[in-house]
Amino acid sequence: MGTKCNEICMMTPNELEDWYTRLNAWLEPAYLAHDEPWKQSGMSGPADRWTALRKPVADCIDRAGSFLDIGCANGYLLECCLAWTAERGIKVVPYGLDLSARMIELAQKRLPEYTEHFFVGNALHWTPPQRFDFVRTELVYVPAEYEREYVERLRTHYLTPGGWLLIALYGEGASDPERGILAGCHPTRHLLERLAELGIPVIGSRDGYDAVKGRRTRVAIVPAGEV
Ligand SMILES: C[S@@+](CC[C@H](N)C(=O)[O-])C[C@H]1O[C@@H](n2cnc3c(N)ncnc32)[C@H](O)[C@@H]1O
Repeated sequence: MGTKCNEICMMTPNELEDWYTRLNAWLEPAYLAHDEPWKQSGMSGPADRWTALRKPVADCIDRAGSFLDIGCANGYLLECCLAWTAERGIKVVPYGLDLSARMIELAQKRLPEYTEHFFVGNALHWTPPQRFDFVRTELVYVPAEYEREYVERLRTHYLTPGGWLLIALYGEGASDPERGILAGCHPTRHLLERLAELGIPVIGSRDGYDAVKGRRTRVAIVPAGEV
């Protein structure tokens, strides 16, 4: 597959485009088939499981600032993060990016005060119109061989100096990390081990646990890189 196969075999531009077409064709109808806000964000719910597994993202935000959710889907995580950080007196200004124009429309309806803060694009290539104090992502938004380049791009081009990249793994420690991800993604079982393997510095992390299904979330805090 692809070019530049000396060490890591990258996809050709066409293969990469096809990969994202398949990703969107898989996720978009699955999310749009539901009315519950967590299901429109790819999580089976109900609300208390959503809170257990998503609040660790908000727990990483320790000061006021702008927050970009990459892969914001219907904007529900942003809406919840505004509420969860407000409980600690922290004011967050939300922004969202997603591959899917239909998901972005839902997010704009959910957060109508912020319609101008939502963008359709692929984070692997998108050029942000500004920098953000906090940016959330997952490694599975790119094929395995792009993970390092992707994270470095976010660190150097998306974050304000001193900003934090929040990398979430919603299946930390899972026995079957291949489940629920597109072929070509790296099946990460332990987030901090994977980031160490990629040479990405981590300055902290927050965890969540859902006792109903025994699932774990880990969110790693990665500092902005030097441009
Ligand atoms: C599971 S939802 C995440 C919802 C919410 N942000 C959360 O953390 O629970 C994943 C979303 O990421 C989007 N996505 C995947 N890869 C992306 C990329 N490279 N750039 C932008 N959005 C991407 C998908 O379209 C999908 O809506």
